[in-house]
Amino acid sequence: MNSYAAPDEIGSPEVSATAAALLLLGRGSDPDSERGVDCPGELPAASDPNLVARAWAAKRALGDRVFVLGHHYQRDEVIQFADVTGDSFKLARDAAARPEADYIVFCGVHFMAESADILTSSQQQVILPDLGAGCSMADMARGNQVLDAWDVLGEAGVADATIPVTYMNSAADIKGFTGEHGGVICTSSNAERALRWAFEQGEKVLFLPDEHLGRNTAVRQLGLSLEDCVLYNPLKPNGGLTREQLRAAKMILWRGHCSVHGRFTPAQVDKVRERVPGVRVIVHPECTHQVVTKADLVGSTEYIIRTIEAAPAGSSWAIGTELNLVRRLANEHPDKQITFLESTVCYCATMNRIDLPHLVHSLESLVQGQVINRITVDESVAQFARLALDRMLALPEMVSSNRD
Ligand code: 13P
Ligand code: SF4
Repeated sequence: MNSYAAPDEIGSPEVSATAAALLLLGRGSDPDSERGVDCPGELPAASDPNLVARAWAAKRALGDRVFVLGHHYQRDEVIQFADVTGDSFKLARDAAARPEADYIVFCGVHFMAESADILTSSQQQVILPDLGAGCSMADMARGNQVLDAWDVLGEAGVADATIPVTYMNSAADIKGFTGEHGGVICTSSNAERALRWAFEQGEKVLFLPDEHLGRNTAVRQLGLSLEDCVLYNPLKPNGGLTREQLRAAKMILWRGHCSVHGRFTPAQVDKVRERVPGVRVIVHPECTHQVVTKADLVGSTEYIIRTIEAAPAGSSWAIGTELNLVRRLANEHPDKQITFLESTVCYCATMNRIDLPHLVHSLESLVQGQVINRITVDESVAQFARLALDRMLALPEMVSSNRD
């Protein structure tokens, strides 16, 4: 089962044992964290047989006043109500597509809802149906840690030559830091373009907070070597790096990872190849470099979907990404043999927190004129975060390249 707090975080002095235990139980909050709190109010019972009808009735009653966005990793029971589905990039672009909607209900995780709030008008209100839907990767880069890292880079004399490139999967203050320091946001769909842009602006990149997406993109798509990359560990003094290492590096990778994709292993790729003759292995770039190196194709969730759609009938696929999406693809393409890369890797626990009771509760509250679970980003942070997001949206669109 994918745990909410990564082992590193539980060991961190910033997260007390009690807080970590409560968060693992899905309760409580960490005020310094991207992750949220319990959902307030009376949730409908999950056993209520009328939940689907209630959600449709509330959505109909709200009409054009509500716009529901759904990330591909959401449950089927939720995704059926999305007006638009997509990966993080598509949803960031689409968030502002309905300026007439008073409410944006974001079926995804906290950092996505924050980005939607930053990119939509101040009259629009963004709602996350369960405030507990955070992201363990986003929590691996905290504002104070990133500011400390910037000081370390300054002391090594490399901050002026470094451009921050920050994965969408990050808290708003990290995006704000990025914008303020001349950097750009990226997603798994456009990381290559963002890195190329960054290397046109400076000599080095500080890539936050997913070391794997940073390494995979730099090595596979930009042709850098593994030796060009160093790993900055925020839990160690000076990131665990010497000044010489920082000066020699081209890519300074933040030590962070996705607790779902980080569980796929190279041995699982070997096993599925033995088990399913002729299988093609397609994985998300949040997987480790060893896994990505063994796969046939690598790309964002949107890329994975398009590849499976275009594949010939009778072809066999093993997919290394979140289970809700893999199950949906298998159901939608019964003419293709689709297997999950590894049966012991589970759903993203935080994405999965958005379920039908929470969605019904959010929509019915809106019908009654009550906005619950609103996500807002303070304008002092949002102005710089918007700068970094707008730089991303201005990059020419391209899809993560594959590899045969
Ligand atoms: P994409 O939506 O960019 O494929 O990222 C996957 C993910 O982990 C979102 O949390
Ligand atoms: Fe975060 Fe990974 Fe879940 Fe995406 S899949 S929300 S990166 S933990």
